[in-house]
Amino acid sequence: MFISFEGLDGSGKTTQVKLLSRRLREQGRDVVATREPGGTPLGERVRELLLAGKEMSAWAETALFAAARAELVELVVRPALERGADVICDRYVDSSLAYQGVARGLGVEPVLELNLAAVRGLLPDRTFVLLLDPSQALRRAGGGRDRIERETPEFRRDVDRGFRELAERFPERIVKVDAERPRREIAEFIHGALRQPS
Ligand code: TYD
Repeated sequence: MFISFEGLDGSGKTTQVKLLSRRLREQGRDVVATREPGGTPLGERVRELLLAGKEMSAWAETALFAAARAELVELVVRPALERGADVICDRYVDSSLAYQGVARGLGVEPVLELNLAAVRGLLPDRTFVLLLDPSQALRRAGGGRDRIERETPEFRRDVDRGFRELAERFPERIVKVDAERPRREIAEFIHGALRQPS
């Protein structure tokens, strides 16, 4: 299975990636967990450009995320799926749809089109979107923020709205998760949802 986790910084998705990976491994499954942007040597360099750099135009930003994603799919995700492993991604295409498509205002359709080309049509079997109030997400995310995390409260609200809209638009793939609940409960919910047929 190919699974992705999405949500604002501070939504707790990284914790859930770890908990699910551990649980599936305990069941004897081969699990590859990866993060975006990054996860490959080229991706890590692109990540630096994206997160440490100065302002850049919205399409340049989108294309760089797509480039890192193309490399990750080619080198890590597809080979893992082909050998029968489960792949769990901390962020994937939906991050670009919510951050660049909705919050940067480029539009979901054109950003999706670019990304589908970059990943040659590979979308997750299941995507978990961790939803919580954007101001609470900001508090939880704490310090150490990068260029994109330093955006305004309005930007974070737009990203949040974007994720909610995506869940309505792709209901067969995206599962909404209430990220305000205790993390063990969230982990149980996610594990249960994976056993339901889509
Ligand atoms: P993030 O997953 O939060 O990295 P880390 O947890 O290591 O800091 O991603 C960094 C930022 O990049 C985050 O603010 C969301 C943003 N982002 C996009 O805007 N578009 C994308 O396609 C991706 C993958 C991330």
